[in-house]
Amino acid sequence: MALKITVIGTGYLGATHAAAMAELGFEVLGLDVVPEKIEMLAAGRVPMYEPGLEELLARHVAGIEGSTGRLRFTTSWEEVGAFGDVHFVCVNTPQKHGDYACDMRYVDAAFASLAGVVQPGSLVVGKSTVPVGSAERLAELLPEGVELAWNPEFLREGFAVRDTLHPDRVVVGVRGERAEKMLREVYAGPIGEGSPFVVTDFPTAELVKTAANSFLATKISFINAMAEVCEAAGGDVAKLAEAIGYDERIGSKFLRAGIGFGGGCLPKDIRAFMARAGELGADQALTFLREIDSINMRRRGQMVDMARHALGTNGSFLGKRVAVLGATFKPDSDDVRDSPALNVAGQIHLQGGQVTVYDPKGMENARRLFPTLEYAESALEAVRGADVVLHLTEWREFRDALDPAELGEVVASRVILDGRNALDPVLWREAGWVYRAMGRPRV
Ligand code: UDX
Repeated sequence: MALKITVIGTGYLGATHAAAMAELGFEVLGLDVVPEKIEMLAAGRVPMYEPGLEELLARHVAGIEGSTGRLRFTTSWEEVGAFGDVHFVCVNTPQKHGDYACDMRYVDAAFASLAGVVQPGSLVVGKSTVPVGSAERLAELLPEGVELAWNPEFLREGFAVRDTLHPDRVVVGVRGERAEKMLREVYAGPIGEGSPFVVTDFPTAELVKTAANSFLATKISFINAMAEVCEAAGGDVAKLAEAIGYDERIGSKFLRAGIGFGGGCLPKDIRAFMARAGELGADQALTFLREIDSINMRRRGQMVDMARHALGTNGSFLGKRVAVLGATFKPDSDDVRDSPALNVAGQIHLQGGQVTVYDPKGMENARRLFPTLEYAESALEAVRGADVVLHLTEWREFRDALDPAELGEVVASRVILDGRNALDPVLWREAGWVYRAMGRPRV
């Protein structure tokens, strides 16, 4: 009989994983402790913007016309315990307030609740990003006869469905053959097809995730450091990235210089990693991550300085209108957590600038986080009367559809600063704009 699957926690990770498991043909029960989330998901709606996820859910959520009915949602732990052979724990692990460390309260609560209801013979699988050593501790909380495995997830927001259905690799940390066998069964279908299946121990599985995110963060901060040098030396970081990227050992991805990384993962994961290494007495090994973090945070201030200089007002934003295109931490997401774009907008606002923000999907979340900024309903409205335009999240809508001539008609001054190195400089300059980008020469 096919394994029955439960998914604990229905954020980006859990909602996508639950829908993907149903797509593979499994019967799936998703649980969240927030009833409003469960109500939305049970109606086939997704509480965040994630391309393709709502369609995937609608194909499987029970009660939706034409669906397979394989996916249901609940708030009841008893139901989860009685239903599942394999329980995936997908709750979030934010950064602790006032501390670099990882806040494990949701993981701990999920394991405590699960421990009271899981059936002997079932498997609990941790997917959340946790400090190394957590799995070993959490395994002790589970009753006799219930095994634990650690199976980190590498999905990117904006590509969550694709990354879940076609992962680069499946990594499982196990202690016994039974757990490995059950997970091989889960990933036997199209998800595992063509993806390397890496079997390892608990600590290595936990570390794979934090190491991967640290490497990605390092790549971004490396190119941003090169951008700083280019700015000082008059070089062009975009050309430099292109040229070093042709070396296969370096690779061209994740080398876009700009205002740096944000979001709910990279910043907090590298900090939690440093904190954990400190606890383990291995802090020296990760001191470089502190530098990665500070290069990244510095970029935001440098963007503010660039705007200040572009205004030519001797360092003051007072009385100046600044248009900000983009609020989310990256395109194809409505997530504004630790968003470099909003951070820059907020800094300029605090320094007296009159900031108007537009974002294709992140307006609701941005308004909630920064209610004192002004918001416009379109890019054209946002730039009306602007003394300087900042391009801070590289949405396709901005990259491909903005008409420099049309925007040029409504701004006070044709100056655009590209914080993501994503717009076409030639196009903007031909339309009479001063176009400047981070790490690139002024023309
Ligand atoms: C990341 C990891 O990529 C993913 O594997 C992990 O599971 C979760 O964390 P995500 O947070 O969705 O995913 O975003 P990602 O696409 O990695 O981008 C992170 C940030 O880096 C964004 O703010 C993005 O704008 C920035 N970035 C990315 C750059 O500044 N330059 C680049 O070249 C690439």
